[in-house]
Amino acid sequence: MPADPSLLTPLDDDASLEAGTQFAELIAGYLAQTHAGEGRVGTTHAPAELAAQFAGPLPAEGKPLAAVLERLRREILPNVTRLTHPMYMGHQVSAPLPAAIWTEALISALNNSTAVQEMAPAVTILEHQVVRAFAALAGWSAEAGGTLTSGGTEATFTALLAARAEAMPEAWEAGVGADPPVVVYGEQSHYAVTRAIGALGLGLRNGIAVPTRDFRMDTDQLRAILDRLHGEGRRVMAVVATAGSTPTGSFDDLAVIGRLCAERGLWLHVDGAHGASALFSAVHRHRLAGLELATSLAWDPHKMMLLPLSAGMVLVKTERQLDQAFAQRAPYLFHGRGAERVWDQGVRSFQCSRRADALKLWVALERYGTRAIGALYDRLCATTQALHAQVLAHPSFAAVHAPASNILCFRYVGRPGRASPAPEEEARLDRVNFELRQRYNRSGEGWITTTVLGGRRVLRCTLMNPRTTAAHLERLLTGLAATGVAVERQGAA
Ligand SMILES: Cc1ncc(COP(=O)(O)O)c(C=O)c1O
Repeated sequence: MPADPSLLTPLDDDASLEAGTQFAELIAGYLAQTHAGEGRVGTTHAPAELAAQFAGPLPAEGKPLAAVLERLRREILPNVTRLTHPMYMGHQVSAPLPAAIWTEALISALNNSTAVQEMAPAVTILEHQVVRAFAALAGWSAEAGGTLTSGGTEATFTALLAARAEAMPEAWEAGVGADPPVVVYGEQSHYAVTRAIGALGLGLRNGIAVPTRDFRMDTDQLRAILDRLHGEGRRVMAVVATAGSTPTGSFDDLAVIGRLCAERGLWLHVDGAHGASALFSAVHRHRLAGLELATSLAWDPHKMMLLPLSAGMVLVKTERQLDQAFAQRAPYLFHGRGAERVWDQGVRSFQCSRRADALKLWVALERYGTRAIGALYDRLCATTQALHAQVLAHPSFAAVHAPASNILCFRYVGRPGRASPAPEEEARLDRVNFELRQRYNRSGEGWITTTVLGGRRVLRCTLMNPRTTAAHLERLLTGLAATGVAVERQGAA
């Protein structure tokens, strides 16, 4: 059938080196500008303004590529959050490793879906190799298995689904019934845990939160809770510990928790979405001591390995435990071969069409090596230690905790001498801290986050960019202190 040339010509033109170079120039220009710390970190525009800017019907006719690139340059780039800017210290999303950025285009060009090995012959094998190597870093044997995920949320969901299959093999067919087992987790866990408890049909009432002490799971309380549940005859499906908690980057004591679970024969899932990358660091690896006792692990290379979104991973101590999680039949896709091991990752994954994210992970490891990845982890933690030292020395701020990784929470307190303010004053400072963070981010000077710890509003910084230096930290505290004074003066709080 002869094709209308106007249909295929733009496709051929855009596949050219010349077209690709134009995209590459846009990206390299953005990276160079932000790496140098030029320009604002965030947008000046409110959501409604952006909605108005991009309103309008879908274009029935395409435009020349140059016009589209111009729109990207003029309308999109000024309105992004610039994670590669050294003053970005916000959520746990990385300033990504450049070789992995470029690999994203290759992943899309190949578009090999990694559900079945025959569709992604090489990348499926890379995924297996990386999974095995990461499991070995966790201290597990060659029996371990795993799969890449869209992130930590899917990884924890998958691990708890595998735990459910172990505890209740009948649940896939029959549902969980009226008396499902419980999941015990630390109160500072990421919402991925309660989301999984809800999604797995266990019911949030069957999730039990263990209080924290110094932002880590209180292991005495864990023991007491497990003893009580045992006494009541209640089944425990899993205990979930966190390695690198979302609010403060703290690590639960995996050795103690691991022993408590091993003594009782319980499935221990470790949410290491944030902190498992410490396994690459000679300095910080000890924070994961005891991980070898865990049954499953969530690990996000798109966090502290500085991969671009998405690159998550779930590991399970024995591959069989993951294989039984999704008891799926799909004769159009999966062709099991008796006792032979199945290479298709789709049988172990919530996803069907799956991006070949393993390729960018492999490229990042090939290009930079594990030593540099560990050193980058160390650098981010050292910068966070430096921020902590600056906070301690600054009269306008109160430190909330010492950092265990690259996350630090602290509180703006304004004038010195407010060591233990009255409750109304604390409540006012909550409002000041909240408003101060909003205004600071709107200023474009920097970009941070906020959370509530112990009932008090605090400022929260996550150092995800190895280009952030002590001078940037000084700029941050100077900017936050000045914004705090302005907020207080204007009585907005
Ligand atoms: C400890 C922890 N677990 C899980 C997640 C969720 O990971 P993702 O956003 O990749 O789904 C996060 C994200 O911030 C996290 O900090």
